[in-house]
Amino acid sequence: MLRGERVVLHPLLAKHADVLFPILSDAELWRYAPWPQSKSLEQLRARFARLESRRSSDDREYWLNWAVEENASGNTLGFVQATVDDALREANVAYVMSRAFWGRGLATDAVHTMLVHLKNTGVRAFSATVDSRNSRSVRLLERFAFGAIDAQDAQNVRYHLAASALLTIREELRDDAGAISDVQRAAFAGDAGDSLGRDLESGLVVASVVAEADRKVAGSIVR
Ligand SMILES: CC(C)(COP(=O)(O)OP(=O)(O)OC[C@H]1O[C@@H](n2cnc3c(N)ncnc32)[C@H](O)[C@@H]1OP(=O)(O)O)[C@@H](O)C(=O)NCCC(=O)NCCS
Repeated sequence: MLRGERVVLHPLLAKHADVLFPILSDAELWRYAPWPQSKSLEQLRARFARLESRRSSDDREYWLNWAVEENASGNTLGFVQATVDDALREANVAYVMSRAFWGRGLATDAVHTMLVHLKNTGVRAFSATVDSRNSRSVRLLERFAFGAIDAQDAQNVRYHLAASALLTIREELRDDAGAISDVQRAAFAGDAGDSLGRDLESGLVVASVVAEADRKVAGSIVR
């Protein structure tokens, strides 16, 4: 698992469908993100089960999904995902959070935690495709200094961020969100660039640098 400031990211498993189905049944979540919806709990469970392989069928992409849990309450809030092009080392990211938890910075924390992990496992650049009317999503990306690079139309504006630019963004976020933990600082300073395959493929392994920092701080490996 991956630790953020206020959230923990768990590799998505079929069992997460039980808690996520009611959350994802809120039509408002899909107003600007018209992804295919699972109409039943069984469908969602089957979809999440397929995602447990964490690879596309042609093996060219890692499909990484994490369930987002709030530290303080243990509530599952939503999920974040990254589609990583193995050859290009680029990750297309997306995120969906329960409306009950909007506006608290929890999505920002979850996405940041994912971006740091991806960077530490060798991802070089991030992208996201957003409907320009999806102001919450646009604000979230701009908080990380993602920039709009092209727009096929207003519904499909593509944003981009070089992974190397994440450091400064982290410092700015710290000003917003309070002091960052030693674990995150160590994880952030680290560079496990050549471990992309191993860490991403399992989707279950915390970047080794994070695990090492965890060991130092907590005296044990957290999984
Ligand atoms: C996109 C989505 C995840 C954003 O959620 P969100 O609640 O706006 O994001 P956050 O939890 O990070 O909250 C951000 C707000 O909390 C505030 N905030 C409070 N504490 C904060 C903190 N410690 N750190 C950052 N922001 C904080 C920010 O100022 C920000 O306010 P603003 O919206 O007025 O700018 C959510 O709207 C969603 O799930 N939408 C539906 C799915 C979707 O469209 N996904 C995108 C498809 S690509």
